[in-house]
Amino acid sequence: MLEELERLGVQAQEELEKASSLDELEAWRQKYLGRRGAITLALRSIGQLPPEERPAAGQRANALNQTLTQAFEARREALQRAALERDLAQNALDVRLPGRKPALGVLHISTQTLREIAFIFAQMGFHVFPTPEVEDDLTNFQLLNIPPHHPARDMWSTFYTTRPGVLLRTHTSPGQIRAMRHFYPEPFRVILPGKCYRYEQVTVRSEQMFHQVEGLVVGKNITMGDLKGTLENFARQMFGPERRLRFRPSYFPFTEPSAEVDIDCILCHGKGCPMCKYSGWLEILGCGMVHPQVLQNGGYDPDLYSGFAFGMGPERIAILKYGIEDIRLFFSNDVRFLAQFA
Ligand code: PHE
Repeated sequence: MLEELERLGVQAQEELEKASSLDELEAWRQKYLGRRGAITLALRSIGQLPPEERPAAGQRANALNQTLTQAFEARREALQRAALERDLAQNALDVRLPGRKPALGVLHISTQTLREIAFIFAQMGFHVFPTPEVEDDLTNFQLLNIPPHHPARDMWSTFYTTRPGVLLRTHTSPGQIRAMRHFYPEPFRVILPGKCYRYEQVTVRSEQMFHQVEGLVVGKNITMGDLKGTLENFARQMFGPERRLRFRPSYFPFTEPSAEVDIDCILCHGKGCPMCKYSGWLEILGCGMVHPQVLQNGGYDPDLYSGFAFGMGPERIAILKYGIEDIRLFFSNDVRFLAQFA
């Protein structure tokens, strides 16, 4: 019996070392330590031995049972650890990988252009003065020499609200009145940027909502020469230092005299091309000397003060600068368009 146990022990140890998976290990356990396992059966058969052999055989069998059980536990732990390590290696998390970059947005091209305009005028001492988008008829029209039924109102098709006399401003010029009333009696230089609204057919050239930047300078001895110098400086910073400017006489009810300003075509430099419709010139803004009545409406005595004003559309500026073909692109939220201005 002792020899038999010895042989069983050696065989069991050898087979245990060969068990290379948890399944094989379980088969081994059943073969030796299970309910019908060889060691279990040997332990049970001790009772049938002659009484003098029982103590030695019992001791040996118990010892073997203990040794093999411990060996089994150790082997199981080793196999489990190996399985875990394999799993970790296969589903490795490589902490050296660079992280994913978050997608960054860009400033809207209108905002970028507004800021560029504000920056250029800031260098010339202009403050930004905010004025409301919802205006009253008085400020948007009447105080700017556009009385009800004045034919000039045709220039600004208007969005009215349900409240009589309240409308969405059609231009930033009503801000002139607000700025004058704010700064009176000091001389001042401001730009008034913001959204404007016109009740018009949306086309390649006109949107119902767009931006304008108004400029207004009021003081003593402000002349048309100041206006020209200011706008020339602006246009050359915006469109290139070699730009030539052309002032064409025009008409606005709130400026006298009035002018429209063109720059020589940035594509053909005045030779004539499709961009400038073969005229050689591109219109960039309207301007003029503040009408004496408008000065007075703002609180300034036109005998002592004078001023100039101008108004431009940043979308139009961007269209010219970047060769954009359709103003509707600005506000249709197509990222393929917007992302080009990163
Ligand atoms: N408000 C005018 C427009 O919308 C532009 C303008 C502003 C003209 C200031 C003269 C002076 O067309």
